[in-house]
Amino acid sequence: MERLKVLLNREQIAKRVAELGEQVTRDFAGESVVLIGVLKGATIFLSDLAREIKLDATFDFIAVSSYGNSREPSGEVKLTKDVDHSMEGKNIILVEDILDTGVTLTYLKNLLLTRRPKAFKIAALLDKVSRRIQPIHGDYVGFEIPNEFVVGYGLDLAERFRNLPDICIVETDGESS
Ligand code: IMP
Ligand code: MG
Repeated sequence: MERLKVLLNREQIAKRVAELGEQVTRDFAGESVVLIGVLKGATIFLSDLAREIKLDATFDFIAVSSYGNSREPSGEVKLTKDVDHSMEGKNIILVEDILDTGVTLTYLKNLLLTRRPKAFKIAALLDKVSRRIQPIHGDYVGFEIPNEFVVGYGLDLAERFRNLPDICIVETDGESS
């Protein structure tokens, strides 16, 4: 059995996402942006962030699998779905739910930079700074969080809990509370 404990509630998330949207709007004033969501975890963050960006914007999506069990990534990343459009000369914002070890975003950054965008930025709703093994940082980061496994607002545990409106820490039996 899992117990869920709210870490960030929907109001806190909405306020912070609005701030990130304003930042993007300012940084790219007068230009257009392509929001690339990393499936599936980033979809809810992307849909809220996009509506706070007051610029000409388009969406694209990319997907990776990370050969590991549901809680511990293996460090190996494989592309399972590429973007649909050319990124050459575009202002790309790669939108991800969480920056953890940094392996996934380092892989995607290197891949997308080969497509010769005009600008490349990373928006990550959550950042577990203490877990990083790759030297990568988010340009637009919602919240730095402790090393706890979280679900909700797009984030899953074995595909469950993505639809929770709040971000919650999952405690499974056998762990201290
Ligand atoms: P990284 O490659 O280690 O940075 O891992 C990033 C991916 O691991 C994210 O896109 C998530 O899918 C997953 N992940 C890392 N931490 C969590 C968490 O606390 N809850 C849910 N998924 C997580
Ligand atoms: Mg995931």
